[in-house]
Amino acid sequence: MVTGRYHVTTFGCQMNAHDSGRIEGLLESLGYLPAPKRDEADLILFNTCSIREAADSRFVAHLMEARAVKRRRPETVIGVGGCWAQSMKDEIFADYPFVDVAFGPGQAGKLAEFLASDSIGAQGYFEFESFTADLPMKAGQGHHAWVQISVGCNCRCSYCIVPTTRGREVSRSLDELTGEIQDLAARGVVEVTLLGQNVNAWGRDLRPQRSSFSELLSCVDSVEGIERVRYTSPHPKDMREDVIEAHASLPSVCEHIHLPLQSGSSRILKRMRRTYDRSRYMDRVAMIRERVPDCAITTDIIVGFPGETDEDFAETLEVAEEVGFDGAFTFIFSPRRGTEAAEMSDAFVDHDVARKRMDRLLEVVRRRGSERAQRFLGRDLEVMVEGTSREDPARLRGRTRHNRNVYFDGIGAPGDLVEVSITGATSQSLTGEMALAAAAQRLSR
Ligand code: 5AD
Ligand code: SF4
Repeated sequence: MVTGRYHVTTFGCQMNAHDSGRIEGLLESLGYLPAPKRDEADLILFNTCSIREAADSRFVAHLMEARAVKRRRPETVIGVGGCWAQSMKDEIFADYPFVDVAFGPGQAGKLAEFLASDSIGAQGYFEFESFTADLPMKAGQGHHAWVQISVGCNCRCSYCIVPTTRGREVSRSLDELTGEIQDLAARGVVEVTLLGQNVNAWGRDLRPQRSSFSELLSCVDSVEGIERVRYTSPHPKDMREDVIEAHASLPSVCEHIHLPLQSGSSRILKRMRRTYDRSRYMDRVAMIRERVPDCAITTDIIVGFPGETDEDFAETLEVAEEVGFDGAFTFIFSPRRGTEAAEMSDAFVDHDVARKRMDRLLEVVRRRGSERAQRFLGRDLEVMVEGTSREDPARLRGRTRHNRNVYFDGIGAPGDLVEVSITGATSQSLTGEMALAAAAQRLSR
């Protein structure tokens, strides 16, 4: 077995960050050591994303740097994993002949086989089939952990590359997940984020016994030591009463729901194949507000989807005004290879028009987000300490159950739950101070 030093660069979503943690854990258990810089590594890996075009071009620039390293040291092995690798599987070795190994999302297990075999130096490509979750996670991940609960997606959103790169949805079993979370808790993890492309569809494919996402939430909630449970992302069509109820009734399930809207126009939602319309989305929001009045609601919105007219976009603005999201990730539509929407080129929206729409949307998102944040002023909120403020290391940085960043004066170590009085609120973050008595109590411990 050839071992040496590795270097991993991660692009894209939290799922990839999670996969990279697994890959690092795996390499270290194979005897590899981390290299501080890419040009000092024997094994250069990229975990890629292809959700948006910008990520592709950024990544290719990095890949060319790796080629330069290999020119100097031809024995260097270059591996490319993740969604971009999956979407390029037919041309990757022809277009980038210096790449040795390519693997789809969640294929780190295959990567191990490859590295452990004699095939190093021969080009290899691995399809998706297994979970990286079977692998040990890189040690020292602290008080928070990502837990992958399913891979793949059965939806067919017309803009999305995930169904072609990650395949059909496969859920991990309840026992396996509960076991993993118990182990994490035993190692000091107090907060978990459950990950999947459509988390609230979890469990429907399990045999012999189907299960449901709300059932999973209640099992995770009952794990001793887990104080906070989050998940991302759910699909509005599968957002049922039982899941919303879980936020109200289970102590560890946080008051935050990320509910991707994508568009406020029912006509565009139909073209996106989202299978819900504006009124169904608003109905979900109303149910959340009724059951969990203080719940933060965040979203994803795409502007400039093919065929989006000024009227359609006005509906997106209306929904953003009406809901008053606590925060939103906004994207300009980008055609992805092999997706249905990429074929709608006769209806593509002019990029300048899309940019202007984005600016208008951002104005609404920021203004409403900042208005929403004002409700926290003067309140004492439970904050999980995450570290110190980057700008002012004398201050602490933490997160509320609503997933808001808080910068505050106080005392605490990462993973501690403290109470902070909120004195300032913007759309981006909160500021405050730990109650003096509570700080003194901590000091005396
Ligand atoms: N173009 C723009 N945004 C996209 N997203 C997914 N695919 C595309 C695309 N082709 C956005 C969606 C999704 C988020 C993770 O990325 O809003 O919810
Ligand atoms: Fe993509 Fe839609 Fe599945 Fe999300 S729900 S991963 S957007 S196909």
